Amino acid sequence: MKKRRMFSAILAGAVLAIGGLLVLQTIWFRSAYAVEEQQFDNKVNVAIRALTDDLLKAEGDSTSVIKPILKKATNAYYVDFKHALSYHVLDSLLRKNFVRHEVNLPFELTIYGMQPGSIVLGNYYSDGATSKNNATCGSRALPASTPMDFMITFPGKRADIVSGMKFWILSAIVFLVVLSLFAFLVIDLMKQKKLSEIKTDLMNNITHELQTPIANISIASEVLRTGAGRMDEQKSLHYANIIYEENRRLKFQVEQVLQAALFEKGQISLIKTEVDVHALVEEVIRNFQLRIQHRHGQLNCRLEAAKPVVLADAFHLANIFYSLLDNADKYSPDKPDIVITTTNTLSGILIAIADKGIGIRRDVQRYIFDKFYRAGTGNVHNVRGYGLGLTYVQKIVQAHQGKISLTSEPHQGSRFELYFETC
Ligand SMILES: Nc1ncnc2c1ncn2[C@@H]1O[C@H](COP(=O)(O)OP(=O)(O)OP(=O)(O)O)[C@@H](O)[C@H]1O
Ligand SMILES: [Mg+2]
Repeated sequence: MKKRRMFSAILAGAVLAIGGLLVLQTIWFRSAYAVEEQQFDNKVNVAIRALTDDLLKAEGDSTSVIKPILKKATNAYYVDFKHALSYHVLDSLLRKNFVRHEVNLPFELTIYGMQPGSIVLGNYYSDGATSKNNATCGSRALPASTPMDFMITFPGKRADIVSGMKFWILSAIVFLVVLSLFAFLVIDLMKQKKLSEIKTDLMNNITHELQTPIANISIASEVLRTGAGRMDEQKSLHYANIIYEENRRLKFQVEQVLQAALFEKGQISLIKTEVDVHALVEEVIRNFQLRIQHRHGQLNCRLEAAKPVVLADAFHLANIFYSLLDNADKYSPDKPDIVITTTNTLSGILIAIADKGIGIRRDVQRYIFDKFYRAGTGNVHNVRGYGLGLTYVQKIVQAHQGKISLTSEPHQGSRFELYFETC
């Protein structure tokens, strides 16, 4: 228990640390981007400032002061110029100043008249996106001596900044790879841990399950041996039946564990013959009746299928009936009341095994065919088992291209339906 808590604490700590690193990495990345962007903005600002000075100088104006550059979007810089502009002078001075201040990105130039929103030359601009189709002026001849503003946009600014952050991107990728490896290791570790818990449970179960029939057989055989010749026929039959039944149980349990191991290795091989399901069910029931009578329960059958013959492995088919009956009995805390029915469908036979036991909660129904799964609530754990029975049943049914389904309600009972094609 202490170990389990420590494992959970270490795991929670590791997940928190990784989460923290992820947050830090994101913050670092964002601030690195912000620094790069700030540097770019500064360069552009200095270049545009030098440009406006040059423009004014070209006009012989040394007194005007241009308002601060407005950032209309992350990549758009608006210059409140309010002076006449010549496109060619503006364009060549722009290029010159950008080269001088190492702004080496393609840009778009838009020139605005003084009416709000009027574009004299360039591309329509809205919310950081430029669109070519609204260009209002194809000619580059600007009206002389009309005051104008202009705006410069860098469509590739974000991509340029990101490509300048190669080191950060590389470190983020390395971090993500480490994170995925860590997640993979944690998942694997948890699986291993679950498996080791299951194995411990299984060992405990096997020990208990095998010990009970062995002890019963040894007591019954001891009584028979010491009472030989003095015991009446009724009594000796009773003890012989105990030995027979317990031996069968033992055989079945050993078989179940062996089959699970074979399935694991994919080594199951079926010997198919024409099997009369009714005859097989009746044989299994004969062996099972004693157990039900011991518990004062009842086991009835309505074998109504007109075509009961299937192509199947009789040994495995008998085992799956036995396994389902074993469950129906085990999970009926009061007197078991079990009914087996068979009916024909168009191309096959439906075999239903229904009990009025504890039932299975809807949310766990999808797990009961999983290996080692045992519903872990209520008094179910008073009943011993390996959690292998239904895994085996499902595998065998599938190996016969059959189907298995379950309907169950807690405290009302369960009904397992098997379907096989008939011959
Ligand atoms: N007829 C049933 N009524 C109620 N619960 C059932 C019934 N059949 C199966 N279950 C639930 O499904 C679980 C899995 O059943 P399964 O037969 O695979 O294992 P098991 O009976 O626990 O062990 P074993 O390997 O000995 O069969 C059981 O532990 C039980 O919780
Ligand atoms: Mg079982």
